[in-house]
Amino acid sequence: MAAPEILTRAAALRREIERHNHAYYVLDAPTVPDAEYDRLFRTLQALEVEYPELATPDSPTQRVGGGPLDAFPKVRHAVPMLSIRTETDTTATGARAFDARVRKELGLADADPPVEYHAELKFDGLAINLRYEHGVLVAAATRGDGETGEAVTQNVRTVHAIPLRLAGERPPAVLEVRGEVYMRRDDFERYNARQREAGGPTLVNPRNGAAGSIRQLDPAVAAQRPLSFFAYGLGEVAGWDDAPATHGATLDALMRLGVPVCAERRVCRGADELIAFHDDVAARRDSLPFDIDGVVYKVNRIDQQQALGFVTREPRWAVAHKYPAQEELTVVEAIEVQVGRTGALTPVARLAPVFVGGVTVTNATLHNQDEIDRKDVRVGDTVIVRRAGDVIPEVVTVVIDRRPHPAPPRFDILQSHPVCPVCGSHVVRLEGEAAVRCTGGLYCPAQRKQALLHFASRRAMDIEGLGDKLVDQLVERGLVATPADVYRLDLATLAGLERMAEKSAANLLEAIKASKATTLARFIFALGIRNVGETTAKDLARHFGSLDALTGATPEALMAVRDVGPIVAESLVQFFAEPHNLEVVARLRQAGVHWPENAGQRAAAGILAGRTLVLTGTLPTLTREAAKAMIEAAGGKVAGSVSKKTDYVVAGTEAGSKLAKAQALGVTVLDEDGFMALLASQGG
Ligand code: IVH
Repeated sequence: MAAPEILTRAAALRREIERHNHAYYVLDAPTVPDAEYDRLFRTLQALEVEYPELATPDSPTQRVGGGPLDAFPKVRHAVPMLSIRTETDTTATGARAFDARVRKELGLADADPPVEYHAELKFDGLAINLRYEHGVLVAAATRGDGETGEAVTQNVRTVHAIPLRLAGERPPAVLEVRGEVYMRRDDFERYNARQREAGGPTLVNPRNGAAGSIRQLDPAVAAQRPLSFFAYGLGEVAGWDDAPATHGATLDALMRLGVPVCAERRVCRGADELIAFHDDVAARRDSLPFDIDGVVYKVNRIDQQQALGFVTREPRWAVAHKYPAQEELTVVEAIEVQVGRTGALTPVARLAPVFVGGVTVTNATLHNQDEIDRKDVRVGDTVIVRRAGDVIPEVVTVVIDRRPHPAPPRFDILQSHPVCPVCGSHVVRLEGEAAVRCTGGLYCPAQRKQALLHFASRRAMDIEGLGDKLVDQLVERGLVATPADVYRLDLATLAGLERMAEKSAANLLEAIKASKATTLARFIFALGIRNVGETTAKDLARHFGSLDALTGATPEALMAVRDVGPIVAESLVQFFAEPHNLEVVARLRQAGVHWPENAGQRAAAGILAGRTLVLTGTLPTLTREAAKAMIEAAGGKVAGSVSKKTDYVVAGTEAGSKLAKAQALGVTVLDEDGFMALLASQGG
């Protein structure tokens, strides 16, 4: 038998652990680090092992425990669990019909003041009755048919947001709290991601996640599911001294007892304020952290609720006002692929039109081959589609029972699309990648915009002014198909574009012209070859010395370059094997894009190997970036200040103190021509 001080100690530990629990799971504001929580928890567990009589049902150690059940025992609800009437008028003004009915039934005249309502969210989970006796959670049951439900006490105990003991000094003798067990969207996504990784079954949607978990016969499985809870009402109540007089105040009181209540609720006067609530929530529906299927309006005053009473299990004082469903059934009529900006072929299900999430949906993304395999979506299948707000509609699951006979074949992107549907280049799926990609690169129109932006970017060809909006216009009007076309643009064409004045068009033309003098490294980088970043481009330029040497390199030769492995080598080989890409490269060179080349390996160390250069002032054609890249490509280093160790200073106009210092120290000063001549000398 435990001594009194042990009893006190255990009680204090329980209270402290529950306090941290509440802070963490209900208030979302942890009060102690996890390690401290674990320490407290283990201390209590150890005490309970030593004195088993301490392991009362309200002990936080009892959240997980108990073996699997064969079936849930049935329980009769002390007070029936009612359902809510759904307002048939689904427009925002549906609230007016409800208000009119309530006023009539309460016998109110037009001149009487507005009825006070409590507006709240309609959570999409599983209804639960929690029975607290003298503040301790003793039983939990599902709604069942409203009269009789299933006892799911063990599973409900695993929901950390549900207090095992109510807070406060004098809890009612009996308090039944009713509410919804639900799963947050982020918890749902995280759980599924983990399951996918582990190769385990995933949950279909958050609602099924919540309902399925609570109706799990094995509490250990339920305990793995991240569930949450919101209270929205009461069942049997006995011995509650100062029971509140309104529904809103009841929820406030529940909060003070430590029960989670959703903060999205509002006392509304009359129909207009209900409509405002409806519209406000509708606008934010998709950014809520959990799914809702509508809002609920309740007469706020309990005495008025009692006066209104019930009709066949539905209270006259409450109504559910639903939003458009976010999931519907439809049929996959075809599976097609779309080419994205990065060349990934995204499978898309063409659906028999279905009204879901407030719009008619005819397409749903299937993401990639792995996703198709996981869901096993086939043409002809009946599927559940989901559209939550502006999110792209998705196929949630296939209704296997409705698959046609004989079963249609599995869908395989590589098989159905050996070549890109946009440009005809062949497609590949690289080892370890989820996406099937078009190898068309610069040639593929779907990839043009992205490729052009990259081509013009500062570290690539550095064409200032060739940004997003402009590239969109150029591609959409068919003025630019590949980067080579950029060099054919003229003033009249550019000045004719939206938001392009004569002056900015002229500036852009200048920038395009200046970009022609570049380096091999920049040029390679600008081509936008997959897996070839700036550093790899520099290494390749240094190693091969000329573009022709690079273009003709075998995978083995490529892998001789520092940091080039099989993946990068394959990307390069594939890129240069595509005739379209070679054509673009040739046209760029014809347009005048050039760089100092060298003969290759011998000069790979570069004419500037071991040399330090300083750049100062503005050069006539080269940008600072370009000059720096050229120096680095030739093996040199660029320093920020001049010293005795500086080998060359490359000076343009408005060169200031650095030029003076170079002259004072006797360091060789070059202008742009001299600099280009120095670089060109590396070939010979
Ligand atoms: S009140 C007397 N309030 O909707 C009214 N129910 O048919 C009893 N639900 O499955 C219910 N959110 O679980 C109420 N804020 C809310 C609710 C809500 C969701 C569910 C409830 C039940 C169904 C009502």
